[in-house]
Amino acid sequence: MLPSHLAIIMDGNGRWANRLGRPRWMGHARGARTVRDVVEHCARLGIPNLSLYAFSSDNWKRPREEVGFLFELFASHLDTQIDTLVRHSIRLSMFGRRDRLPATLVAAMEAAEARTAGGTRLHLRVAIDYSSRAAIEQAFTQAPQDPSAVHALLPAVDLLVRTGGERRLSDFLLWECAYAELAFLDVAFPDLTTDHLDAVFADYGRRDRRFGAVPTPVAETA
Ligand code: FPP
Repeated sequence: MLPSHLAIIMDGNGRWANRLGRPRWMGHARGARTVRDVVEHCARLGIPNLSLYAFSSDNWKRPREEVGFLFELFASHLDTQIDTLVRHSIRLSMFGRRDRLPATLVAAMEAAEARTAGGTRLHLRVAIDYSSRAAIEQAFTQAPQDPSAVHALLPAVDLLVRTGGERRLSDFLLWECAYAELAFLDVAFPDLTTDHLDAVFADYGRRDRRFGAVPTPVAETA
């Protein structure tokens, strides 16, 4: 039993780098390699929806150099990974605000979305300049004029994984996680392996998701 929508808060990059006496950006660069492995693994397993928290609207509070590095990393990855995504029929889209992002990054995002639009195997959604509270507020502000605005919210999340040892949602997919199973891992994101994910999936498969209903009765013996 695998989740049909897996969401990941990719935390612990900076601390991973600091532990090795390296600058924080190295943690992000190593994290980008983990992203590739995670996407490949999910596609191979047949998980149809994967949402990744790459940059929260609160991450603007970070030093300018770190923010700039992250945007360059996103743009360069969009560039280098796009052919692989197309080859594997992976659809990529980004969600969050675009009006505060560098124009070059927005152009790379739009190009990647257009080129991968036909992908049917896995829908990879990457949150950039995203705040769940802002997204909910926007959807419901627009809803009276345009009820379809509510559909801008994502499909319900089945399983949310957060790496890096913290146990919070940090304004990620709050509405969509209403009935999500939660898994908090102490491993830093750059050290996350497919074995860690498989262990989380095995645990997820054992959980009894009742959505508020009573457990299915065990058949009574006569
Ligand atoms: C949180 O760790 C991580 C981020 C804010 C950036 C996540 C970005 C990547 C994993 C890079 C690649 C992404 C894509 C989509 C190519 P942190 O910096 O808060 O770590 P800390 O809690 O240890 O400081």
